[in-house]
Amino acid sequence: MFSFFNKKAVEVQESKAEVSQDYSDISKVAEYFKHETGVTFDKQISILTNKVTTFCKHREINSFTSLLQIIERDKQIKQELIDYLTTNETFFYREFSQIDALSKLVKKSSQHVDILCAPSATGEEPYSIAIALLEAGVSASSFNIVGIDINSDALTKAKEAIYRERNVRNLTPEIINRYFTFTGEKYALNNSIKSLVTFKLTNLFDPSFTALGKFDFVFSRNMLIYFDKETKLRAKTILESMRKDTEHDVFFGHADLF
Ligand SMILES: C[S@@+](CC[C@H](N)C(=O)[O-])C[C@H]1O[C@@H](n2cnc3c(N)ncnc32)[C@H](O)[C@@H]1O
Repeated sequence: MFSFFNKKAVEVQESKAEVSQDYSDISKVAEYFKHETGVTFDKQISILTNKVTTFCKHREINSFTSLLQIIERDKQIKQELIDYLTTNETFFYREFSQIDALSKLVKKSSQHVDILCAPSATGEEPYSIAIALLEAGVSASSFNIVGIDINSDALTKAKEAIYRERNVRNLTPEIINRYFTFTGEKYALNNSIKSLVTFKLTNLFDPSFTALGKFDFVFSRNMLIYFDKETKLRAKTILESMRKDTEHDVFFGHADLF
């Protein structure tokens, strides 16, 4: 039987747990996250507080201060937080005019071209480029595409390359038939396209990013929108330095405007 004393003991334990929880001041987490990834929550502090509180509670982390201490020594939790807080929304043939412009440039080129997609999120953008190049008559052996992202979940999905209807909504039925296998619910990208893109888990601000080498064309769309002005400019300089030469501008998204 559950005694009065047991009940009291549980109540005392519960109230101790409540007392030791402190999810009041998110500012240091916000600062840390911006410093590590560039992503700012300056205008969404209450959203960030709610999200990180949920993140902590699921892992029995009692305060934001403890979270920061844990992250310092636990790379896995740090990656989980990055995966949880970054936004990976993307779809095939997004802002297609830029992909079309790239296809025309690549078609004109007589040399093998290296293309960088930073960030690639779940893969739709680099795969769109591969499809558009093939559709333009460029041979698969004359280009190489690298996709990078800071979000490991997104990259796992990119490598699986199985998409929902809403991700392929901009593609014609002909392109879907040519490059995907419909499984009755989802669209699995064919290996012939998957094999044309290499993905790497990389932070744009980490030296491992610039160590990727130089590229003929650089795409960086819809990432800078999450950065403040100063970080956007820093990112722009890094992305521009990834080009083999200055002949072509980096392809930024229309919403990324400086
Ligand atoms: C909205 S997606 C854009 C995907 C695609 N380029 C597009 O335009 O559809 C933004 C991506 O930026 C990534 N990201 C944010 N900060 C990053 C950083 N510092 N380094 C690399 N990727 C980052 C996020 O993980 C997310 O997948």
